[in-house]
Amino acid sequence: MTESARPADAGIEGLVIDHPGFSRLFEWLASSSIGRSTFDGLRRRTAGVAEGRVLDIGAGAGHNFAFYDPARVTSVEAVEPDATMLGYARLRAASAPVPITLTQAPAEALPFSDASFDSVVATLVFCSVGDPQRGLSEILRLLKPGGRLLMAEHVRSEVGVLAGIQTAMVPLTVTFSGNCHWNRDTAEEVRRAGFAETRIERKAGGLHPIILVEARKAG
Ligand SMILES: C[S@@+](CC[C@H](N)C(=O)[O-])C[C@H]1O[C@@H](n2cnc3c(N)ncnc32)[C@H](O)[C@@H]1O
Repeated sequence: MTESARPADAGIEGLVIDHPGFSRLFEWLASSSIGRSTFDGLRRRTAGVAEGRVLDIGAGAGHNFAFYDPARVTSVEAVEPDATMLGYARLRAASAPVPITLTQAPAEALPFSDASFDSVVATLVFCSVGDPQRGLSEILRLLKPGGRLLMAEHVRSEVGVLAGIQTAMVPLTVTFSGNCHWNRDTAEEVRRAGFAETRIERKAGGLHPIILVEARKAG
């Protein structure tokens, strides 16, 4: 495992992402048996099918790392802006089945060359990204032609009353859940980002619906 550090606000003025309390809570939740039974299937469908040189955006505590298949993946660049999350990720990177490099950076300003990744993975991240279109345009810039974005996100409900409850809760989730916008329509954000093909699988879930996204950059 190698690591490069950069200031959390580098490249995007005024952006500091630092939620130590939420990071500790999420690490506890994602490691618990409930967290694993909720999230592991999503990790298998995203990280588990990534190929080649992979970018894991908002890697958090590194819970995707164990799912990368050394038969398909050559290396993973994992980016995460929050220092507390990076501390957990560092420990998981050391025992990952593939080589992992950690970098402190936000989705909106990624310090990599154009067209340098075969796959980009983002799990449970885009609800929290301050400028989702800027993050998605970074992904398009970084993917090789024909490369894939593999994403799992919780999103806005399609049921009006539930979406209304989500919207009412946003001030709380932004404050206490690491800038999570509980009502974000990430499916629509991906559709208008400019991918050549976008497949979205929606899993019903009351106030917590999930989408699995496979989006391909034009070849
Ligand atoms: C709920 S955690 C999910 C972490 C990890 N992807 C997982 O599946 O376990 C959300 C992560 O998004 C990160 N995040 C928040 N804003 C971000 C941004 N602008 N760019 C990249 N990551 C961001 C947070 O620091 C946090 O680690």
